[in-house]
Amino acid sequence: MSASSPVLDQHAPSTDISSSRSKLEIVPRRVKFDFSDFESKFYYQGNSCISAMWVALSATFPAGEGEFIKSVKLFENQIQDPKLKAEVRDFATQEAHHSVQHRQINKMFDDIGYDTAKLNVFFKDELAKREQKWSAEKRLARTVCAEHVTAVMAHHALTHPEHMANFPESFRNLFLWHAIEEIEHKSVAFDVYMECVGDIKSLHREYRIFTRFEFPFNVWLSSRFLLKEMGHKVTWKERKGLWNSLYGQGGLISDMRGLYKLFLKKDFHPWNHDDSELVEQWKEKLAPYFVGQ
Ligand SMILES: [Fe+2]
Ligand SMILES: [Fe+2]
Repeated sequence: MSASSPVLDQHAPSTDISSSRSKLEIVPRRVKFDFSDFESKFYYQGNSCISAMWVALSATFPAGEGEFIKSVKLFENQIQDPKLKAEVRDFATQEAHHSVQHRQINKMFDDIGYDTAKLNVFFKDELAKREQKWSAEKRLARTVCAEHVTAVMAHHALTHPEHMANFPESFRNLFLWHAIEEIEHKSVAFDVYMECVGDIKSLHREYRIFTRFEFPFNVWLSSRFLLKEMGHKVTWKERKGLWNSLYGQGGLISDMRGLYKLFLKKDFHPWNHDDSELVEQWKEKLAPYFVGQ
């Protein structure tokens, strides 16, 4: 028997214990969308509030996803599990692709009257300040929180085609492609956090701050900024439409509440909620937009 036999060598790495609990292969895909099908800047049922809210979200992605990649990569050298290491690389490639596509659609939004460029400068400045002030652990924790919210929103997009039907086709397909990849890599940042940091109390604190204050406040402030910059006066009818799309029956927030709360449960893991089947179905539908697959 060799000296490196696992029977004799107490320090040999175990082959059946993996930090990664991913259920799906993480596949970075190249896509091609033509964003020339926007007929109006208030493309979502003529409602400026809802339209601006989704533009604001798209505007946050290039800077936000850049920070997701950086904060996870800070721990790359500490990851022992080779499977998780490989997943970090694929997660980073997926997020980088998302940023490229959102930069393109954000440019189109600016061409039709929004000012996402100014918002992007603001987000980049804020994140640069965080890099200086926050610890690597806190930055990773915030990324884990944002990744959970993104995965929950992705689940909503894939299960509510009636809402997605209100978007121009190119924007809808961009969101759906982004959604399937967000679900594919939804556990990567979490698994890295658990292997390298493991401080659940701090993670829950960051989650409460992010979901109760930072995220809703940022989206509200950014949407308001976009509409103010273009000099649009919002009507009560538009406000009511936004309220219904968020809190009405099947609305984004009403629908997401249950999955939002899952994060704070004992023994939470992103794949405790298994939506792998859903991703498989949508991969087939979106296949015509994947380049070179
Ligand atoms: Fe993404
Ligand atoms: Fe992500």
